[in-house]
Amino acid sequence: MRGVILAGGSGTRLKPLTNVTNKHLLPVYDKPMIMYPLGTLLKAGITDILIVTGKESAGDFMKLLGSGHELGCRLTYRLQDESGGIAQALSLAEDFAGSHKFAVILGDNILAEDVGPAIKSFEADKAEATVFLKQVPDAQRFGVADLTGDKVVSIVEKPAKPKSNFAVIGLYLYSPSVFSVIRSLKPSARGEYEITDVNTHYVKSGKLGYHILKGEWTDAGTFESLHKAAAIARNSKKI
Ligand code: G1P
Repeated sequence: MRGVILAGGSGTRLKPLTNVTNKHLLPVYDKPMIMYPLGTLLKAGITDILIVTGKESAGDFMKLLGSGHELGCRLTYRLQDESGGIAQALSLAEDFAGSHKFAVILGDNILAEDVGPAIKSFEADKAEATVFLKQVPDAQRFGVADLTGDKVVSIVEKPAKPKSNFAVIGLYLYSPSVFSVIRSLKPSARGEYEITDVNTHYVKSGKLGYHILKGEWTDAGTFESLHKAAAIARNSKKI
């Protein structure tokens, strides 16, 4: 099982904090943001990890994390030339993943839960993709999953009227089949290759598993959620 951290983008919603640095290097309580998703992968036993980011800050990520040796992992870096959405950034992981199943985590997602057991069962399972869901009060900010029985029947990106309060968080488990799914996508109305379109493909083919998170979670892409992320980090001493 390999790991991919997506840490590109321009962090528009956090300007002026992101005027001179990458969002994923901003402080969250006592560590730069990217240390949290990296910790989530390491705790799950994933030690072969690719970091995808833009060229402006790539050197800073290397200065912070180096080869990964001190953290007990092996880091690979890949540059993203344009920001064309999460699925476009993920397509850059194809060579790295090879024939391995892998976990993808967005660099601004902070989780207090150990997802190791869910990742291990995906590894042993036939499922081709798995999403993690968290009940939230503001589902319209996220990809939202509609559940019927024990199946995800739809995922809608930032719906005005969410059908449920299950946000699809920024942690996804895929088999290498995801790269041909990405190649079949068309850009969305906002001109991006959407991760929700990738997951919808697996909903339609009946190959999407899901795991409901019980522990705390937030993304950290807005001032309010960045503040919440610091509080989660402060209260969960183990992360
Ligand atoms: C992205 C995804 C969305 C997901 C969210 C989790 O949104 O598009 O489906 O719920 O991450 O952090 P973004 O933060 O890029 O708006």
